[in-house]
Amino acid sequence: MAEKSAAHVIIMGPQGAGKGTQAALIAPRLHLEHISTGDLFREVMAGDSELGQEIRSYVDRGALVPDALTIRMLMDHVDHVLGGESEMRGMLLDGFPRNQAQAEALDLALRERGDRLVSVVHVDVPRERLMERLTGRLVCPNCGATYHRGFNPPKVEGVCDVCGSSLIQRSDDTPEAVERRLSIYYEQTAPVLDYYRAKGLLLDVDGDRPIVDVSERIVEALLPKFDVD
Ligand code: AP5
Ligand code: MG
Ligand code: ZN
Repeated sequence: MAEKSAAHVIIMGPQGAGKGTQAALIAPRLHLEHISTGDLFREVMAGDSELGQEIRSYVDRGALVPDALTIRMLMDHVDHVLGGESEMRGMLLDGFPRNQAQAEALDLALRERGDRLVSVVHVDVPRERLMERLTGRLVCPNCGATYHRGFNPPKVEGVCDVCGSSLIQRSDDTPEAVERRLSIYYEQTAPVLDYYRAKGLLLDVDGDRPIVDVSERIVEALLPKFDVD
């Protein structure tokens, strides 16, 4: 196992704010491993296991997967990717934590590992923009790249720029599931922003701007925070 303590960043924001889009752009520049609990769940759902079916019963209707299962799967994955000879500084957590219990479980896990939380990036986008972003989203089932029919189209319609696979719509990007996901966000996840704000860790970023402007702003703000080590 790597002895040096790791330095982690969390990216938060409502569904469609651009967490996954930004994470893919900034993680390599900050030497962080992008870990999305949603991507982890979709990977398990793609197989035909009992666990995959259980997870699907929550995700497809836009409900949260139970905390105990989520926390266990996430921490197993973190041990796996940051163990051994990883060159990464730490993880860029996308989609976790989503409620106070998950935030406290993460605090405990980081304390036990002797790791540090560098910053919590809050990508802020007004609610009225989100439905349009999500219902126009296209994703690559093979490599996870994210596109938008209008705002960020692939070079060839329906085909992933990165790996050439056919793009699909996510099963939870239906208007009903999006409504449920957003309600859960404003009820359970948004209060977690105040928890991190009180710790002096929150970085508010305007996410209602072109994709590249948002990533430049995040990288510019985060780089000095790593240099103080
Ligand atoms: P998850 O996969 O995390 O989905 P989510 O939270 O609903 O967030 P999204 O992925 O929809 O939004 P995003 O901010 O990543 O947006 P994106 O970059 O794609 O979770 C899925 C499910 O898994 C949950 O509902 C739950 O069931 C379960 N789950 C996951 N984590 C869990 C946890 N911790 N506990 C319990 N359950 C959990 O961008 C959206 C679109 O906008 C794209 O089309 C993109 O091209 C476009 N776009 C992005 N930025 C811009 C911009 N600046 N301008 C214009 N368009 C833009
Ligand atoms: Mg995402
Ligand atoms: Zn792809």
